[in-house]
Amino acid sequence: MRGLFVTGTDTGVGKTVLSAALLAAMAAHGERVSAHKPAVTGLDDPGADATPRHWPADHELLGAAAGISADEIAPLRYGPAVSPMLAAELAGETLTATRLLAAGAAALSASDATDRTLIVEGVGGLLSPLADNLTVCDLAVALRLPLLIAARPGLGTINHTLLTLQCARAAGLSVRAVVLTPWPPQPSALERSNLEAIARFGFVEVHTLGRASGPEIAALARVGAELPWRRWLGERPRVAQAS
Ligand SMILES: Nc1ncnc2c1ncn2[C@@H]1O[C@H](COP(=O)(O)OP(=O)(O)OP(=O)(O)O)[C@@H](O)[C@H]1O
Ligand SMILES: [Mg+2]
Repeated sequence: MRGLFVTGTDTGVGKTVLSAALLAAMAAHGERVSAHKPAVTGLDDPGADATPRHWPADHELLGAAAGISADEIAPLRYGPAVSPMLAAELAGETLTATRLLAAGAAALSASDATDRTLIVEGVGGLLSPLADNLTVCDLAVALRLPLLIAARPGLGTINHTLLTLQCARAAGLSVRAVVLTPWPPQPSALERSNLEAIARFGFVEVHTLGRASGPEIAALARVGAELPWRRWLGERPRVAQAS
């Protein structure tokens, strides 16, 4: 299997932009790609979360970047801008680990069968619950994909990122890199120092994703092209045990 799992230090930190930038950059180089998002919420109220209104919903942006239908990417879609568990409850449903794991496994085998590279975007942060006995971290472990961590460049990011790294490693996940996004053209002393501190204290590669001018695929491909995605995909993922 060939793919990456994109998590973040929080909601609204740039997971979708990073995932879409990777998909667009890969597709621009002839890579066949696909994407999966376990659940999307907030479709009734775009802009209620951290996402500005002019950015499309996650599955739409991922679908446009991957060149596949948005609905295929996120089988579970809800209106309210709340956690997936609460959104499901409000819709009179219960999210189960079985259902979410099966959807993730189906996305993996479909991309394997069609020789596509799969980018899975998590929900919220690594310990965000998806079902009673399933966190985003559990899903990443079960899918056995290497991890990228999207993080903010500014104040507070060192602690959030190191916590996420520690959690990922404790679960046996193989962390490819932390990606600070959006990285300004002229980073401040704080932003540069945050990057160095995360690399030094986290013993991790830290990369940056420039600010895309908007959700257009060409703009995403341009910023994504700076990332060493070939190397991230080429390394053999460490096999992790599902918990
Ligand atoms: N590299 C970037 N270029 C341009 N805008 C960015 C970039 N990174 C983050 N942003 C801004 O941050 C917002 C939130 O990013 P994004 O939607 O990717 O976060 P998320 O972690 O996927 O959120 P969610 O938890 O809702 O899925 C974007 O809508 C965009 O305005
Ligand atoms: Mg997102």
